[in-house]
Amino acid sequence: MFNFTKSRARSNRPSSLGGMDFVDPVKKSGLVRKIIFATSLVALCITIIKFSPSLSSPSPFSSHEAGITHVLVTGGAGYIGSHAALRLLKDSHRVTIVDNLSRGNLGAIKVLQNLFPEPGRLQFIYADLGDPKAVNKIFSENAFDAVMHFAAVAYVGESTLDPLKYYHNITSNTLLVLEAMAAHNVNTLIYSSTCATYGEPDKMPITEETPQHPINPYGTAKKMAEDIILDFHKNSDMAVMILRYFNVIGSDPEGRLGEAPKPELREHGRISAACFDAARGITDGLKVRGTDYKTADGTCIRDYIDVTDLVDAHVKALAKAQPGEVGIYNVGTGHGRSVKEFVEACKRATGVSVKVDYLPRRPGDYAEVFSDPSKILRELNWTAKCRQRVEGLGEQPISHMDLFESG
Ligand SMILES: NC(=O)c1ccc[n+]([C@@H]2O[C@H](COP(=O)([O-])OP(=O)(O)OC[C@H]3O[C@@H](n4cnc5c(N)ncnc54)[C@H](O)[C@@H]3O)[C@@H](O)[C@H]2O)c1
Repeated sequence: MFNFTKSRARSNRPSSLGGMDFVDPVKKSGLVRKIIFATSLVALCITIIKFSPSLSSPSPFSSHEAGITHVLVTGGAGYIGSHAALRLLKDSHRVTIVDNLSRGNLGAIKVLQNLFPEPGRLQFIYADLGDPKAVNKIFSENAFDAVMHFAAVAYVGESTLDPLKYYHNITSNTLLVLEAMAAHNVNTLIYSSTCATYGEPDKMPITEETPQHPINPYGTAKKMAEDIILDFHKNSDMAVMILRYFNVIGSDPEGRLGEAPKPELREHGRISAACFDAARGITDGLKVRGTDYKTADGTCIRDYIDVTDLVDAHVKALAKAQPGEVGIYNVGTGHGRSVKEFVEACKRATGVSVKVDYLPRRPGDYAEVFSDPSKILRELNWTAKCRQRVEGLGEQPISHMDLFESG
């Protein structure tokens, strides 16, 4: 009997056992598979129909609207880009964020989406700016009025270890963004550049006329991107603003956003995040690299600019950008502070006696850099308002790690 059932089962024919219908189990699983396949096919068709641009209502992001500036914020899941997106949204702009989350945080996007849930305010597109097809598709499907191009890998130390990554991600991707802007008639660009393009000039403070001689691949890649933009601009009507930031610190005063590098990038990280991480016990101390620079206390001197002020400079640059014109501006406080001073201020602000290890210099670092920000005051009426706050660090949220989820 048992053998009979088995052989019948193998034959794949319906059979009867003692008057009961017997459905071959092999055949049954085939049937189930077919049902699952048919159901999935129907679900897929429904999804395609639902999201088909021709059948659903047109996206508010795909057409220009009088009185609304639609800004593409590349790198908007990152530290500065997310703060810029917040400010643009607060100022009633329409924002599209493009980010590959290689360095940014999905948590920042969620914070922004929760603050601005209304349709047509904010969209997030997960894409890599190194992918020309993806970039072209984004520009084809959206009607941008301006681009703020923040997306980049941005660690001096890392750039000395992996220079090609920097030339690819910064220089080559900026070229792609620029080509897409030209092809799709997007005529305003605000570009995130850096004081690293100046290298280590003999004379301080640094003005926009100071010759650019970068001393690390990060600075060189940014200078090359600037040069591409400026060459393109010679025969174009594009409105271009190049902002050369000094050292950016701080966070949204309401504590909703902040600087939260991925844990694996901490080693390359910047002094601000490193100080606060150490104060909170997230790391077991702070590593200060280089104590033999020709400065008063031997540590590097930097010009620390608050992110809120920096974002304000972008808003002013966007408002003043003129077709066919290019503006290049330093964005800094005009005052240098040593790393040791920064650490002491952090200790005072947090009340934590941070353990500090002093290590040899890091390749690619320069001794002293601070800005002359008089041009941006004169032409854009911008000045750093948070200087006192930055110097005392008194109002800084202690850390931002808990605000973010890992991307
Ligand atoms: N933080 C500073 O002190 C400072 C100083 C000078 C200039 N800058 C410039 O400001 C900009 C923003 O810096 P940040 O400190 O916010 O860095 P960040 O790492 O926090 O943000 C950069 C964002 O760009 C995204 N990104 C990187 N490559 C991408 C790609 N190929 N496609 C899509 N998205 C990509 C990352 O995922 C990240 O979200 C950078 O261009 C940087 O060079 C920063």
